[in-house]
Amino acid sequence: MQKVLSGMRPTGRLHLGNYFGALANWVDLQNQGYHCHFFVADWHAITTKHDETGTIRQNSLEMAKDWIAAGLDPQKSVLFVQSLVKQHAELFTLLAMITPVGWLERCPTYKEQKEQLGESKTAHLGFLGYPVLQAADIVLYDADFVPVGEDQLPHLEITREIVRRFNFMYGETLVEPQAKLTQAPKLTGTDGRKMSKSYDNFVELAETSESLWQKIRNMITDPARVRRNDPGNPTICSVYDFHKLFSSADDRALIQTGCTTGSMGCMDCKKLLRERMDAFFEPMRERRAQLHDDDVLHILHEGSRRAAEHAETVMRRVRHHMNLDI
Ligand code: TRP
Ligand code: SF4
Repeated sequence: MQKVLSGMRPTGRLHLGNYFGALANWVDLQNQGYHCHFFVADWHAITTKHDETGTIRQNSLEMAKDWIAAGLDPQKSVLFVQSLVKQHAELFTLLAMITPVGWLERCPTYKEQKEQLGESKTAHLGFLGYPVLQAADIVLYDADFVPVGEDQLPHLEITREIVRRFNFMYGETLVEPQAKLTQAPKLTGTDGRKMSKSYDNFVELAETSESLWQKIRNMITDPARVRRNDPGNPTICSVYDFHKLFSSADDRALIQTGCTTGSMGCMDCKKLLRERMDAFFEPMRERRAQLHDDDVLHILHEGSRRAAEHAETVMRRVRHHMNLDI
């Protein structure tokens, strides 16, 4: 059976961008029968947030709840926490010995983040080593495929280079993984910009029906529609962008005609969206409401125990090839 591994930094409750950009794909891969490991990359989170560890525990828990609510099944996939599996740190140390600093300094995400976040967040060895830790995450599970978004491709390339170098120096030991690119359209937020935590334009998976309606109601529509009968253009309206994700082709045809002829008001269009989104989210809300913190912690601890067993078999191979098993 082919193996899949992926991780997410614990950012707390997930929004629709995270869902369509990653999580929905993870659930699909799980249900297609791949042998899956998914983990909370809490060490990666602190590569740029060493001064914000106060929220990590809660953020990890909320994120794991969203995973399970959205359909990741701990009976099928191993769900674990990076910091509970110490082999990640051990392999990071060993891979760090053979990774040229130049590869890391040339990494586009390194350069971008350094500019965006500034020196105080990024001047640390741990941040420079981000791709090395990610390589360790991946090879510890002999992963064949790593589902990631486009932004992560440079990291995957570094992993593959590290694997090739390792195998060349110490003999065939590590599996060279392939990126499995997640095809996701840039999801627009409630304000028409890309959906992002930093813009406050996101819709959370765990949104209640009421809070969802608040967000939909406040969305800006085509500004040409001043009066109810003014014709509009759905292609420049973010409400319609959401309909594309949640409503049927019939719904959209109705809106298309109603909007362009001015016979459908924006309020009705938004009410229909609320209905469709509620239908989509309701099963997740129900599953989430039944998840107690203790159950989720138990799932993560149990998953981490299983992950460590797998990781330890790979580490034995690594230690042996490096003659570190005296
Ligand atoms: N860097 C990834 C991100 O920010 C998270 C991550 C850490 C990851 N380790 C990984 C993803 C291993 C895939 C495989 O999204
Ligand atoms: Fe947007 Fe719908 Fe109003 Fe048209 S009718 S402008 S698609 S909200």
